[in-house]
Amino acid sequence: MAKRTIVAMPGDGIGKNVLEEAIRVLDAAGFEADYVEGDIGWEFWCKEGNPLPERTIKLIEEHKIGLFGAITSKPKDAAAAELAPELQDKGLVYSSPIVGLRQHFGLDICMRPTRSYKGNPLNFIRRGKGDAIDEPMVDAVIFRQNTEGLYGGVEWASPDGIVYDALMTHPKFVKNFGNTPKEEISVSTRIFTKKATERILRAAFEHAKNFGYKSVTVCEKPNVIRETSGMMYKMAQQIQKADYPDIELWNTNIDAQMMWLTKNPENYGVIVAGNMFGDIVSDGFAGLIGGLGFACSAQFNPESGIGVFEPTHGSAPKYADYPVSIVNPIAMVESACMMLDFIDEKDMATKIRKAVAEVIAEGKVRTYDMMKMSGRADVVENGAASTKEMADAIIAKL
Ligand code: NAI
Ligand code: MG
Repeated sequence: MAKRTIVAMPGDGIGKNVLEEAIRVLDAAGFEADYVEGDIGWEFWCKEGNPLPERTIKLIEEHKIGLFGAITSKPKDAAAAELAPELQDKGLVYSSPIVGLRQHFGLDICMRPTRSYKGNPLNFIRRGKGDAIDEPMVDAVIFRQNTEGLYGGVEWASPDGIVYDALMTHPKFVKNFGNTPKEEISVSTRIFTKKATERILRAAFEHAKNFGYKSVTVCEKPNVIRETSGMMYKMAQQIQKADYPDIELWNTNIDAQMMWLTKNPENYGVIVAGNMFGDIVSDGFAGLIGGLGFACSAQFNPESGIGVFEPTHGSAPKYADYPVSIVNPIAMVESACMMLDFIDEKDMATKIRKAVAEVIAEGKVRTYDMMKMSGRADVVENGAASTKEMADAIIAKL
């Protein structure tokens, strides 16, 4: 096996803690790699006026595979206020480096598996027949279009000039907003392209086929958002008919799906959605399997082979300065497993997942979230495992 080079981007806050532990787990599993550190996040915004320095982009271009912890983002004005004094009046505007990475490298496929581990005290339970307690085993994989839609950034506050004129060509705009002063209008667009929509749909169907899921659910709102959601569902019907006749195509509305989450989550297999709804539905499913300490993700571009693997959680700044890190590293470890799958080290990924499953099933080592404590510096004294102790337990099983 040729030794890989992985771009390790710890980012901010707890991103640093969980990435460090995930790399220890990878080492213990026998994954041979060199890690080069990629600068990203708040520190580089404040010092250099750019949270995603060009040198980090170059590193990813060269090595193709990135492991990413988490970053801190703040609203525009708050961000500007924290810039180094010499950068203050340069007109720099903060934008999220992780969104920047997705757009720069066209990482348009985002995959978020949500699978229950047996024995996880955070698993969702519900009342079944005769008041019995049911614990459905969830195994849903969300495919989220990662570069377009509501996160595409095409927005206007107080649209004026030709933008306003263009809006006024739409009869619904005239009817519903035509009498509202321009200064009172803000517009965020939801743009879907056929190319990206087809790519995310095909990725979803292909995954269902390769891993034996019986259904692909398009989770959008085609009855109301006709031109974008409607297009996605129509294309899904065509693709299913032409190339995946053995896989069932289901269609749910995002709002109803959030309700059905707690009714029959075990019925769903692969779910596919645009950027915003994919974000929502994946967080919803993640809640059923233990929440942010367990939610992992991959984002990649199948053509270039570039992939960045990250937990869904953020930098949780309030925990960042605890003398002993308390957060759950499993979401990051699972994201590292997705990286291993992506670079065809599937056996190693399976081995790590098995070790994680054993630790959870045994129930002796649990981070504060698994013990349902509120996150405070003293949770470790009160019996919760630290970030490092959880990683140690996983390593011991390897
Ligand atoms: P967050 O995900 O950082 O934390 C929310 C809460 O979830 C935490 O207070 C903690 O109780 C829990 N949590 C998060 N990760 C956990 C883990 N590994 N184990 C146990 N519990 C965990 O979200 P928040 O507080 O909304 O945002 C904090 C910062 O992170 C913000 O600046 C935000 O912009 C950024 N962010 C970055 C993301 C990324 O890097 N992809 C994603 C989401 C938020
Ligand atoms: Mg989210």
